[in-house]
Amino acid sequence: LRTVGKSLFVCPPHPSLELCPAVLFFSRPRCSGIPYVPQPRDKSVSARSVISFYNQSAIDIAAEKPSVRLTPTTILYAGKSPDNSHILRSAQYLYKELPVRVAHRIRDFRHLPFIVGCNPTILHVHELYIRSFHLLSEFPPVEDFESEEKYTKLVKDLLDDHKDVVTLLAEGFRESRKHIKEYKVIQDFLDRMLTSRLGIRMLAQHHIALHQEKNLFHAQPNYVGIICTQMSLKKIIEKWADFSRQVCEYKYGYAPRVRVLGHVGVVFPYIPLPLDYILPELLKNAMRATCEQHADNPVNMPDVTVTIANNDVDFIIRISDKGGGMPREILEKVMQYHFTTCGSEMDPASENLDGLGTMMSAMNDGPNGAGPMYGFGFGLPTSRAYAEYLGGSLTYNTMQGIGTDVYLRLRHIDGNYESFRI
Ligand code: ADP
Ligand code: COI
Repeated sequence: LRTVGKSLFVCPPHPSLELCPAVLFFSRPRCSGIPYVPQPRDKSVSARSVISFYNQSAIDIAAEKPSVRLTPTTILYAGKSPDNSHILRSAQYLYKELPVRVAHRIRDFRHLPFIVGCNPTILHVHELYIRSFHLLSEFPPVEDFESEEKYTKLVKDLLDDHKDVVTLLAEGFRESRKHIKEYKVIQDFLDRMLTSRLGIRMLAQHHIALHQEKNLFHAQPNYVGIICTQMSLKKIIEKWADFSRQVCEYKYGYAPRVRVLGHVGVVFPYIPLPLDYILPELLKNAMRATCEQHADNPVNMPDVTVTIANNDVDFIIRISDKGGGMPREILEKVMQYHFTTCGSEMDPASENLDGLGTMMSAMNDGPNGAGPMYGFGFGLPTSRAYAEYLGGSLTYNTMQGIGTDVYLRLRHIDGNYESFRI
């Protein structure tokens, strides 16, 4: 519960407060053009990483190794052992895997066009990864519960240190992309970076959750690590609809209602974490379009309708709004990183961005530091990249003058076909 100006802003309940966008928003330094530099925990590592950017054979060696990607069911059925040996095994897997994945990220930073790689904000994120690589790869082997405890603490700290990475990348590329003619270079980098980071964070969170489940007090019913064995799509949609409505009401003074239709009773095993990013993004877009289209008659504003369809292979979530649709001239651009009509001449609320835009950016961090972004033009492209990483897709149909339907399709993790690998 937080007081913002005169309004009371209540975060929707979330399994972990740390994951709640509003909590993250109010607890982290805001991006103000001055790059945010977290205080290094180990100054010697940080100093070393700065002076030896391109001369790090340990990183080169790790970057050559392939990552070992697991299916969620492998993780789910790895089983819980009464002696907690599954937690040790999970830490040992991470211990091997994280340095390789972080090294892959560093390799991608090194391959960026020089002018982009030199941007101070991008350079700062690059350095954050180098520092994490050293901390992870120089940690002594995890052999017993005592070292597992310390290793888990390190992973938690790193997740926290990296929580602003998406915002920093959005800022860094916004500043530097004007120097790059080929948009595809940036798109490929960001697609790979954001999806690989989602995978890293899911693995890390999964281990942390297993570690916490040791303590029955922290154990969540129907969860094995980050996998919810009986996820209700309707509940998760309603949770993010409530959150988006509160943010929307703060910005516009009103918000459309959300109706959930279709297979509302379905429950199945899934990982809610990526949905915690994608759903508020899409709902926020639908609500913004609806509010702006019906500003002259907010009392009779049409609902946003969310339809769930479930089958043996995948599940589909359609978000339909009557927000007037997307103008033809922006259709080719809406899926591009940094494309936004927020703050532009097309945005009726733009002159009011100081106060209200700030509230809307309560959504900017989102769950798990991977979060929704209003005004960065990252919502649709990031959601699409995540959906494809999860073996699905994000598409839309728009009717100019009426509204937009966005379709999120995701593969079941226990369906008839092999699911994605994390
Ligand atoms: P942002 O929300 O930061 O602008 P997004 O990537 O989520 O970034 O959306 C990009 C642009 O696509 C929006 O600024 C808006 O112009 C357009 N858009 C997205 N969803 C809708 C929608 N449901 N109706 C109309 N326009 C939309
Ligand atoms: C990230 O969140 O960007 C990470 O890669 C986290 C990892 C270093 C544990």
